[in-house]
This record gives sequence, structure tokens and C-alpha cells, in this order.
Amino acid sequence: MSKSRETPQTIRQRKGHEPIAALTAYDFPMAKLLDAAGVPLLLVGDSLGMVVLGYPDTTHVTLEEMAHHVRAVARAKPRGLVAADLPFESYETPEQAVESAKRLVDAGAEAVKAEGGRAILPQVEAIVAAGIPFLGHLGMLPQSVVEEGGYRIKGRDDEQREALLADAQALGQAGAFGVVLELVTPTVAAEITRLVDIPTIGIGSGKQCDGQILVTTDLLGTSPDFIPRHIRPEELLRDRMVGMIRGWKDGLAKRKP
Ligand code: KIV
Repeated sequence: MSKSRETPQTIRQRKGHEPIAALTAYDFPMAKLLDAAGVPLLLVGDSLGMVVLGYPDTTHVTLEEMAHHVRAVARAKPRGLVAADLPFESYETPEQAVESAKRLVDAGAEAVKAEGGRAILPQVEAIVAAGIPFLGHLGMLPQSVVEEGGYRIKGRDDEQREALLADAQALGQAGAFGVVLELVTPTVAAEITRLVDIPTIGIGSGKQCDGQILVTTDLLGTSPDFIPRHIRPEELLRDRMVGMIRGWKDGLAKRKP
């Protein structure tokens, strides 16, 4: 593994050469573990709302909460690029998007991610013009889950397919260095991957993307509530953790007072 630091350019240059492995990190110890494993792209995802903060979905996460977790991850100084999610309602206008992105950069993020394609193009262009690297996110958009009434696979009909292709192209042209495709049908994800010259990073979108991203606790089997269908952890580490904690507690109970 190369010892040099990753940049948006090195991530982008992997397209067609080397699959991009990306994982979420919400705190210092996980960032250290991902660094030890040589993960090139760390995302401080707003999934931290459910995974760490116990919210029902990502729409409750604030910019201050994101900045707090970005600071913890950045303190680990990983060689992988640290990207951070702009949370719900923090990028309603180009001005607000730049201001919010700067807050995350000040906290230690090296790139920001936001959900949407042509609908947020002025915001993307403003972020890129401010010199902040931008990662797109298309397909199932978790910040729209309340509005849409659930987590649904995207790209199932012609209208969705065409919209996804146009959104991905628009993000590439606006200067995004990559795009996450979440729960997009594998055929459409493969088509986008062939069409655009920026890397696609899939989650539940088949094997043909240029990279894959996972919520790390899903990979390790430590997510609090459920493990999504697109990942089968080698082992449910949470069961082992509960066993270790119970073993320690039971050992303590056996000691004489
Ligand atoms: O918030 C997050 O963790 C994400 C990934 C699922 C891509 O956006």
C-alpha cells in the first residue's frame, strides 16, 4: 500500500484501474482502524445519526454534530481522503451550501458529499468554485426518506433510468470527483459507470461500479438495529462483543466481595 495521502485526484484516477474501497468512520478509533487497513476513502456519513446517535433517520443530524464527528476522524490523520456529508437542510441555497461545506472543511474534512443531481447543481457548482472537492450521491437518497415514505431501489423504470444518467453526467460536468450510487439497479449502475468519466462508488448497486462503499458497522456486524440486505458480514461482531462483556461481568460476579 502506498504511504502517500489520498486526494480527490488519486481517487478519481483509480477509475478503470483499481477498485475504490470506501467505508464510513464516525470517530477516532475507527478512523485509525480504517487507516491501518489502508482504506483510501473515509466518509463521515450522516448515517452516524442512526448508527451512533440513535435517531430514526438522517434528517435529524445537524451541521454541528457532523463537525464534531469530522473533528474526531480528522484527529486520526488517516492517509485516506476524509469526506463528510452535508446534513439535511444545510445546502438549500448555493450560499448556504458553501458556508456549511466550509464549516466541515474547518473541522478537518477534505471533501463534502451532498444528495441529489440536477436539483442541487447550483450548490455543487458553488462548492466546487469555492475550491472544496465534491462527491455526489444519487439513487436512494436517505435524506428524502421521510418525504418518499421509505428506502426504495432506484432505476427500475425508464424515467428513473434517464434521470439518473442525466444527474450523473451533470455532476461530472459540474466538477464532482466521484459519485455514490445507493440502491440503484445493477444494470443502471453499470450503465452510469460506463457513461461518466468520474468514478461511481456503489452501495447496494451491484458489482459493476468503480468502487464500493459500506457503513462500517454493517460490514462488522455491529450495527445497532439491522444489517441491510446488500451485505453479509463474515461474523456478527456484536454477538462476540456482548459475549466478552458478559464474560467479564459474570467473572466479576464470581469474585468474593
Ligand atoms: O451516510 C452515509 O453513510 C452514506 C453512505 C451510505 C454512502 O451516505
